[in-house]
Amino acid sequence: MQGIAAFALVILTACSSNKSVEPPVRDTHSFSNPHQVRVAHVELDLETVFEQRVLRGSATLSLSRTDSKAPLLLDTRDLEISRVESSLTQQGSFQPTRYELGAKDPILGSALTIHLEEKSAFVRIHYSTSPSSTALQWLEPAQTAGKKRPFLYTQSQAIHARSWIPLQDSPSVRVTYRARVRTPRDLIALMSARADFRLANRNEPPSGDYTFRMPHAIPSYLIALAVGDLDSRYLGYRTGVWAEPSVVEKAAKEFEDTERMIQATEKQFGPYTWLRYDILVLPPSFPFGGMENPLMTFATPTILAGDKSLVSLVAHELAHSWSGNLVSNATWRDFWLNEGFTVYVERRILGAVYGERRAVMEASLARQELEREMAGLSPKDQILHIDLEGRDPDDGFTQVPYEKGALFLTALEQAVGRDRFDHFLAAYFHKFQFQSITTKVFRDFLEKNLLASNPQAAAKVPVDEWITQPGIPASAPRFISDDFQAVEAAARSWQSGQAPAATSGMKEWNTHQWLHFLRVFPDTTTSATLARLDRAFAFSKSSNSEILFQWLLMSVRANHSVEKKLEEFLTTVGRRKFLKPLYEELVKTPAGRKKAETIFSIAKAGYHPIAAASIAAIFAKPHRQP
Ligand code: BES
Ligand code: ZN
Repeated sequence: MQGIAAFALVILTACSSNKSVEPPVRDTHSFSNPHQVRVAHVELDLETVFEQRVLRGSATLSLSRTDSKAPLLLDTRDLEISRVESSLTQQGSFQPTRYELGAKDPILGSALTIHLEEKSAFVRIHYSTSPSSTALQWLEPAQTAGKKRPFLYTQSQAIHARSWIPLQDSPSVRVTYRARVRTPRDLIALMSARADFRLANRNEPPSGDYTFRMPHAIPSYLIALAVGDLDSRYLGYRTGVWAEPSVVEKAAKEFEDTERMIQATEKQFGPYTWLRYDILVLPPSFPFGGMENPLMTFATPTILAGDKSLVSLVAHELAHSWSGNLVSNATWRDFWLNEGFTVYVERRILGAVYGERRAVMEASLARQELEREMAGLSPKDQILHIDLEGRDPDDGFTQVPYEKGALFLTALEQAVGRDRFDHFLAAYFHKFQFQSITTKVFRDFLEKNLLASNPQAAAKVPVDEWITQPGIPASAPRFISDDFQAVEAAARSWQSGQAPAATSGMKEWNTHQWLHFLRVFPDTTTSATLARLDRAFAFSKSSNSEILFQWLLMSVRANHSVEKKLEEFLTTVGRRKFLKPLYEELVKTPAGRKKAETIFSIAKAGYHPIAAASIAAIFAKPHRQP
């Protein structure tokens, strides 16, 4: 545990501005020492070697040094380092430099210590990644829609960037970057940056040699790369969609409202600063719903429902262009600053583009899920400003930072009124743009710029309780959806066995109403009831991933046979949000556990390392007999 001792000493400053009066902040998830030597720019030169499942090349880092005696400390995980060099100037001659790779910490990886000459301002690390890099997923052609070409994509959040780039992997450190990426000739590379080709040249054959530039300073978790057989469509003058050729039309239709979403957000919260907004639809093994990589949101194909019913995910990732990418969490303790704000903005976008009724339905569904999940969480995991020291930051991935965070902001909005709150949020995004901030910085800003001038409103919101205590404050807003009243009535009659009288209006129900309908059924619902429901509504044949998932979960719970549907779903979809609850439900009975083990042994190779690790952890937990 040499690593733990080392990182306990790491002191980071919240932002690079010298004017900052904030005390230094600790990031317990990085070995780096930006208060002594800070990486300001990263220059990547990488080759994608599909046969060996490695990236090979170099990273050149530009340094800003405040302590000329201190070595440079970087984060790495499973990198094979062949040479480290340093130079006084970027174009100058790079000389071999002494370095040490520390012992591997299971969560943090290995510290790379580089001993610098007095005036060295640039270091170059020659390296290759490991085939088991936690950030990379290498897909066989069979795992893609086209089945002909392989695919590669990265997922750097939270602390996986270090498994493909040696850098200061803390969100408090922001860097600009440039990259040159070489790929097999028939594949296209995309990054979270401005590309030198983009949509304009899409009729030209791919060159296999691509360059990118990110002129804004961003945290390392937003550096991203994808390589595959990709095509694109324009959605608007500054928006577009990328996907495998057979998926791109469907994606373009699904996401046609993207420009309207941007305009709605700009109107409320200030200009979109990143120039373009593109969405890349990945193969189904992508472990998340979406990832807000700047300029290029990565998204799961499971949101392509055909009726735009799941595009709140686009609203969410787009909202991160303000909350998260413009103003970022300084450490993973402050993750709720990213996600809570983003869910709040997401719902405002939905309200503006699809009407308040839709926003209220989604908020209401989310509130139920939050309460359901919170019931099973320890008190310390119910806190917005969560203590993650010694833990994997991925453990903080619950509904709490998302939905409790958004509820807190909604409580503030309701206390001061929407106009005033919009004004406050726009000022917040402007004030802290391109900075990484802590919860304390937000609290001080809130106090000074909203609460102090509205004491009566401030008295209604228990700010300290919201941020530092478990549970949900009693005064939290509630969402009452008129569209759900009829749904609840119908569910009640189906539960009591009479049902069909209510069936008529159900034909017009939307996805959210159907989801609510299913979730109203208690966990004790029997297989016989499910059989009746399926005969009436064919849930088991739904092409909507959220509805099908909900149906499969209820079926596993009730030990209701879904034939091959469950296996099919678990072996084709890699989205962790769907996989985890299904496996968790399965392992509750000995027979289910056996089935889960069989499915996992087949499906595992197709899951992303992050998702596979989450599922393996479910099997590792001691088996509790119900
Ligand atoms: N930034 C997150 C994804 C993430 C968080 C990846 C933490 C790794 C660590 C992204 O914006 C997100 O929240 N995605 C959600 C979808 C959203 C609609 C709630 C997801 O993937 O489920
Ligand atoms: Zn998010």
